[in-house]
Amino acid sequence: MKNSYPNDFLKDINQLLLFRKIMLDWYDNNKRDLPWRKNSSLYKTVLSEFMLQQTRVSTVIPYFDKWLKKFPDFKTLANASEEEVLKTWEGLGYYSRARNLLKLSKILKSLETPPETVKEWMDLPGVGPYIAAAVTSIAFDAPIAVCDGNLVRVLTRIFAFDEEFKDGATAQKKLQPLAQYFISANRPGDHNQAMMELGATVCHPRSPLCVTCPVLNFCLSGQAGNAESFPKIQKKKNRKISIPRYWIESDGNILLKTDLSSKNKLFGIYELPSKLPSSIDYDLDSILSLGIRKRTIGNINYEEEILLVSKHKIQNGELDSGYIWANEKKMGEISLSGPHRKWINEISSSRA
Ligand code: ADE
Repeated sequence: MKNSYPNDFLKDINQLLLFRKIMLDWYDNNKRDLPWRKNSSLYKTVLSEFMLQQTRVSTVIPYFDKWLKKFPDFKTLANASEEEVLKTWEGLGYYSRARNLLKLSKILKSLETPPETVKEWMDLPGVGPYIAAAVTSIAFDAPIAVCDGNLVRVLTRIFAFDEEFKDGATAQKKLQPLAQYFISANRPGDHNQAMMELGATVCHPRSPLCVTCPVLNFCLSGQAGNAESFPKIQKKKNRKISIPRYWIESDGNILLKTDLSSKNKLFGIYELPSKLPSSIDYDLDSILSLGIRKRTIGNINYEEEILLVSKHKIQNGELDSGYIWANEKKMGEISLSGPHRKWINEISSSRA
């Protein structure tokens, strides 16, 4: 390792061993009681790590429990249809994770034994360096360090690391060798989880709990009282995108649309349409705003205005492809985007 870090404790092997021991002891006594940590298995580890990407633990837990009841192992999952899988994932967002998990389970089903190395895992759908390191260290004791947002926070604070990163992904890539330096062949999966757990439960982005931190003695910024100012990551200006969302009712049905191009990430997930199909004539003057819904995905702020089209005429003939009329029963069967289901429920009950 290049000697470019401002904190020298890693050069002292006894200090390093002490740090590792403190972290493992702390993890043993303080780890959260999470469902994937009970009777842990490769399947539970893979499923939880897929779900936890971009999503917080409290959101994931009910989905994890529901999923496990429906698809208890790779084999059951491999035999499921994509519709069933998407429906069970509904509301978690980033649906490519669910599609990749299905593909991955089909591949594992075709193998005699699951792969055990990072290299092999990286070849599987939806698996990047983070999931490969997490899965192989937790399930197979591979001494490979994870470096996610938690690790970036913990490491940059320990070393009061001043470099400004372009974005979170760049920071994770650059700091992986440092994370790797900390790990050993002794319980690497628990070491990784301990570091992430510290980031998630003590070393918070804002108001970190330095007073109770087990490794405060090793932490330059914690001792200086300025942990919160790390990591230094360039702030990106969020873009704003406005989208109309049409609300059209006919005989107790609501018009919905999905993109049928498999290139679209939301392929198979229904939403209120942002464009009306050519078979519907509508009266512009009859359009009434039902309010603007705001949400942020990545660095885009979406403003979606729900527009009630009260005067419209349906021409004879088929709806354009991707459009459907859905009543309550149908909406229970299809996969709807989580926010759209919430909006539809809110608006339906206010109009009932
Ligand atoms: N975040 C994602 N995976 C985690 C894990 N296994 N332990 C703690 N935090 C995590």
